Amino acid sequence: MTEPLAYRDFYYPLNVFMHILTHEEGRVDALHYGLFERDDDRIADAQERSTQLLLARFPTPPARVLEVGIGLGTMLARITKLGYDAVGITPDEQQIAVARGRHPQANIVCTKFEDFADERRFDLVFFQESSQYIESNALFAKAAELTNAVVVLDEFSLQPVSHPGALHSLEGFLDAAGQHGFRKTEELDLSQTAAPTVGYFMQRIARYKEPLIRDLGLTAEQVDELVASGNSYQDLYRRGVYGYRLLRFAR
Ligand SMILES: C[S@@+](CC[C@H](N)C(=O)[O-])C[C@H]1O[C@@H](n2cnc3c(N)ncnc32)[C@H](O)[C@@H]1O
Repeated sequence: MTEPLAYRDFYYPLNVFMHILTHEEGRVDALHYGLFERDDDRIADAQERSTQLLLARFPTPPARVLEVGIGLGTMLARITKLGYDAVGITPDEQQIAVARGRHPQANIVCTKFEDFADERRFDLVFFQESSQYIESNALFAKAAELTNAVVVLDEFSLQPVSHPGALHSLEGFLDAAGQHGFRKTEELDLSQTAAPTVGYFMQRIARYKEPLIRDLGLTAEQVDELVASGNSYQDLYRRGVYGYRLLRFAR
C-alpha cells in the first residue's frame, strides 16, 4: 500500500493535515504543532524545536519510556535508536500500518491509553499532543498505574469555553493530576510560538479544497467547516482563550 492511500483513511481532520503537509513539504514525519521563532521557519524545523524540548526532559537512556499517541512512529523510532526501552501506543490501525511500514523495529501496541496495561512500570510516560483526546481524570488515573513521571506537550482551554469539542481546561487537567498524586514540576507557556502552526494550515486549506475533495473524499462542506473552525481557532489563540503548554509532573 502506498502512503497516500494509507493516510486517506486517517481520522478526519488528521488526513487533511497529512495531505497538505505531504504536498507542501514532500514528506511528513510529525503530526504536532511547530514552535515558530521566525516567520520564515519551515514547519519541519519548528516541529523539531518542539521535539527537542521534549527530549531534553527525558531521563538518560537506558530508561523505560511509553509514548502515548505515536502518530507516524517517528519519535518512537528515534527514542528506540537513542537506546530507550520504548513502547508506543495508538488506537488507530491506519497509523500503525504507516508507522510499522516506516519503522519495523519499533515496539507498537494498538490500544487506547485508557485500556493499556503493562506488568512493568515506566520511567516516563509522555504525550505529544495526545492528551487532548483523553479525559483528564482517566488520563492521570491510568498514568498513576504506570509511572511516577509524565511530560505533556499540548493545547488547552485557559478560560471557560462551552462549545462542543472544546479543548480540555488547563485548570481541570492540573486538578486531575493533583487528585491522582501528581505534582506539577514545570509549566512552559509556548502559546506564542505554537499558534503560527494554525496560520500555516489556514493559509493553505482553501487552496487545497479541490485536492481534498478529489483525493480524500471530503465534501465541500467539510472543507468549508474546516476553514471556519480554523478561523475560530486562530481567534481563540489570539484572545488567549486557547494556549499551548509543556507540562511536567512527578509523583
Ligand atoms: C495529533 S496526533 C499526534 C501524533 C504524534 N504524537 C505526533 O506528535 O506526531 C494524536 C495522536 O494521539 C492518538 N490518540 C488519540 N486518542 C488516543 C487514546 N485514547 N489513547 C492513545 N492515543 C490516542 C492518535 O491516534 C494520534 O496518534
